[in-house]
Amino acid sequence: MPSCIICKGNYEPFISFGRMPIANGFLTADEFAHEYFFDLEVGFCPDCYMVQLVSQPEREQMFHADYAYFSSISTRMAEHFKDFAGLVIGSYLGNRNSFVVEIGSNDGIMLRHFSGAGIRHLGVDPSANVVRAAREKGIETICAFFDEDVAEKIKAEYGEADAILAANVMCHIRNLHSVISGIKILLKPDGMLLFEDPYLGDIVERTSYDQIYDEHAYYFSLASVENLFSAHELEVTDAIPQNVHGGSMRFCIAHRGAYDISPAVWSLKKKEQGLGLNTGATFDKFRIDVDRSRDSLLRALNDFRKERKRVVGYGATSKSTTVINYCGITPDMIEYISDTTPTKQDKYSPGMHIPIKPYQRFLERYPDVALLFAWNHAEEIIEKERHFAESGGKWLLYVPDVEVIG
Ligand code: SAH
Ligand code: TMP
Ligand code: ZN
Repeated sequence: MPSCIICKGNYEPFISFGRMPIANGFLTADEFAHEYFFDLEVGFCPDCYMVQLVSQPEREQMFHADYAYFSSISTRMAEHFKDFAGLVIGSYLGNRNSFVVEIGSNDGIMLRHFSGAGIRHLGVDPSANVVRAAREKGIETICAFFDEDVAEKIKAEYGEADAILAANVMCHIRNLHSVISGIKILLKPDGMLLFEDPYLGDIVERTSYDQIYDEHAYYFSLASVENLFSAHELEVTDAIPQNVHGGSMRFCIAHRGAYDISPAVWSLKKKEQGLGLNTGATFDKFRIDVDRSRDSLLRALNDFRKERKRVVGYGATSKSTTVINYCGITPDMIEYISDTTPTKQDKYSPGMHIPIKPYQRFLERYPDVALLFAWNHAEEIIEKERHFAESGGKWLLYVPDVEVIG
């Protein structure tokens, strides 16, 4: 039986996806023979309620000088982080000498608002290529995996932080206790940690199983986050749902006793009990829902193939790697996947090796059906591609349910 990384208790995995490649491991044909695979399995710890990957590839396997995800590719996310930065500047950076640290700052999508306003800031990210992109924008960034040692060094050189920010990265980090010890060291007595990640409640409610892939070591609920941080004498003071990445939660965390607890924390706790995020039976039902989702998506794709429709994927998301490999979506089912990220283009999708093509290809010759792998950006995309639907194109969606819309 695996043991929980957070509390060391034992748990049973509740779902296994089988052998999976690295979700962001887009590759060239000459790399097929050496592709890396691991067992993707998830478990729920009944002692601390943390939902977690049973095993995760080495971090250097995922985050390196050729990391495929550049945050600034999405205009919707750029707006989101502008608002996030605005909130932090307005609420937590009182004086002129304020200092803000971001963990997982990527290409500077959020920190640019601090650098632009002349606020002392520091990004920490281990992926050299995205760090370079941030530095080119004048954003101060160190290339490292954040942990207790890095926090000590930052504190010695820059002093304590008024705010520590982290978006879509806490859930990536397996050695979370070291990260949280680092945060505890680096955060001013009245400082605030704000972090957001895909929310377990949304994953369960929407059967968005494609949030499960190598990079996501944890699937947070308020209950598990409270248990995790209270072990470090930090507490959740607020929890604010975010309408990004298919449903995220922003947790505000401070030194114990430093801030009042928002009523939102109490109401989310009640909601989670209603959802059963603290009981194993919920995750057994989730597994059944996942299988059902896979069966309906395959049925839809097979029907389109019989009708000789041209189907292409839209958005070579990291999430799509789970869907494609778990469902067994082969290159004869989708012609290619359209993506706007230059580093992904003209490579192949991890595992099933579906070609990734520049977005231009989609525009030049619309397919009959677009399978929306970037469903988390559905609003932005469907609006942008109005002309595709007006020309008779159909969208195939699979979250929360498999459906075809015109
Ligand atoms: N915050 C951005 C990027 C999320 S992608 C956004 O929300 O769009 C996750 C980022 O975290 C990657 O750039 C990756 O290199 C970085 N990362 C992974 N492990 C990390 C760690 N231990 N410390 C700091 N950054 C890390
Ligand atoms: P994400 O779901 O991890 O944010 O990744 C989104 C992917 O989809 C990224 O590779 C860029 C791609 N994409 C497009 O190709 N077109 C778009 O309009 C958007 C929003 C994203
Ligand atoms: Zn546990």
